Amino acid sequence: MSGTKLYEGKAKILFTTDDPHILLSRYKDDATAFNALKKGTIANKGEMNCAIASHIFQYLEAQGIATHFIKQVSPNEMQVAAVQILPIEVVVRNIAAGSICKRLGLAQGQPLKQPLVEFFYKNDDLGDPLITDAHVSMLDLATPEQVAQLKQLALDINHHLQTFFERCNLILVDFKVEIGSDANGHLLLADEISPDTCRLWDKEISDPTARILDKDRFRQDLGNVAEAYQEVMKRVLAAIA
Ligand code: C5P
Repeated sequence: MSGTKLYEGKAKILFTTDDPHILLSRYKDDATAFNALKKGTIANKGEMNCAIASHIFQYLEAQGIATHFIKQVSPNEMQVAAVQILPIEVVVRNIAAGSICKRLGLAQGQPLKQPLVEFFYKNDDLGDPLITDAHVSMLDLATPEQVAQLKQLALDINHHLQTFFERCNLILVDFKVEIGSDANGHLLLADEISPDTCRLWDKEISDPTARILDKDRFRQDLGNVAEAYQEVMKRVLAAIA
């Protein structure tokens, strides 16, 4: 049972519950890109991303990663721990794609020598700019200890997700995570892990457009967006079963 609406984001709504330590996260079909300049809906995305994220959170928990996930309570809703989200989007990249290609002139699809962790300032008015550790410190977004923890946590999550998506015959190109601090100051993986937040390429397909099974299909108007999410869900559920 949901209480009052606490926050509505682009892809989810958070509600209070009777327990102050627990929130209800409702996944929406709405899709946005380019800082909400492009808007649309993806049929059944709420249910598909909720199912994908629930399974992946449970997988990561089993690997020792602390997440905000408590349990899935309906097809598009999960209970999560109430956390204070750090205003930093943490991106991990294994292969060059998206904004890093524009920023540094790398070729799309170029493997990186080692996983790269980047921080972006979570601020819609500024368009979520790339920031350094010095900016994090200057803006008081996190303590130096938290920065070190964030980087290690991001790399650990990447390691486990790569192993997991390998089982799904998917290449994990990059992804974004949000991290929250619980009442005890412990950092938890929050938000979601889904084709909205990961670039996932079909391992069996070499065509650079046909292999895309994530939100880039929506961003770039490539068609078959819901079908791509459906395919990811099918493989994620099969990998866990
Ligand atoms: O756009 P960019 O290449 O920086 O995105 C890197 C990764 O972070 C992609 O997987 C993208 O889906 C994800 N991302 C996200 N939310 C944002 C920005 C990026 O999930 N606001």
